[in-house]
Amino acid sequence: MSHAPPQRPTALVTGASSGIGRAIAAALAAAGYAVVLAARGRDRLDVVADGLRAQGAEVLAATCDVRDAGAVEDLVRAAVARYGRLDVVVANAGVYARSPATSIGTADVEAALATNFWGAFHLVRAALPHLLARQAGHLVLMASFDARKTLPHDGAYAAAKAALACYAAALRQDLRPHGVHVCTVFPGRVDTPMVDGLMVPWISRKVAPERVARAVLGALRRRRAEVVVPWPCRLLLWADTLSPRLGDWLVRVLRLDGEARSR
Ligand SMILES: NC(=O)c1ccc[n+]([C@@H]2O[C@H](COP(=O)([O-])OP(=O)(O)OC[C@H]3O[C@@H](n4cnc5c(N)ncnc54)[C@H](OP(=O)(O)O)[C@@H]3O)[C@@H](O)[C@H]2O)c1
Repeated sequence: MSHAPPQRPTALVTGASSGIGRAIAAALAAAGYAVVLAARGRDRLDVVADGLRAQGAEVLAATCDVRDAGAVEDLVRAAVARYGRLDVVVANAGVYARSPATSIGTADVEAALATNFWGAFHLVRAALPHLLARQAGHLVLMASFDARKTLPHDGAYAAAKAALACYAAALRQDLRPHGVHVCTVFPGRVDTPMVDGLMVPWISRKVAPERVARAVLGALRRRRAEVVVPWPCRLLLWADTLSPRLGDWLVRVLRLDGEARSR
């Protein structure tokens, strides 16, 4: 009787060529997962893939624009064809643009939704049959603390992330009986190219992307529903729950929205 070789646990991470996605992919690789890395640009993706392979990781790097549902289906198909299974799926690809709510145009909202909401939605849709078939696995959806306490100038971005967070909350409950764990991540400021151009006060200083990655790996182990990182964000959340006007006041006096660096 012939036995198929044991399959390696596999993780797929979008937006893996930079920042938080890169850190999560590295942490998953270090934890023994084969990792499928996706982003639009080939060059940065290859740098990350080569770095992980040099550390002994099993890596598949694939270019994919998550705004394209067909391309996301191809990505998932390629991952399953290579590794035979999917254990962790991280919908992390995202874009950020500041836009005062008074002047947001339809195009700003559509652009924010296209990557931050629809990109994640396409990935969930494509990956879900594989997770359901095994009645196991984890979906990690990268929202933002902005979806919990929205800052000035972030209307379009926060609207897209809030849509994602609400979808994730429903998904978590719908998938619970099927053994699939859903975790929504709400990072505050993280030191990545996305917010390079933003100066923020000390109290909301940017944390390293590796800190978010550690929190995500911990959440996978404990099957946590949500991650808010760094923890001081929770203080603002409590104040805002008590009174949104108190929350707004704290944002104002602490200047939590930060300031765009002049170029
Ligand atoms: N940094 C923060 O302070 C912060 C705070 C809260 C939440 N977040 C969220 O965390 C996630 C990662 O952000 P980050 O700070 O690590 O940003 P980042 O360093 O700019 O990385 C973004 C990644 O997403 C990829 N990407 C962007 N658009 C894509 C698309 N349409 N299809 C596929 N890949 C795409 C980028 O590669 P390509 O451009 O080559 O495609 C890159 O790999 C995002 O969802 C972001 O909203 C970040």
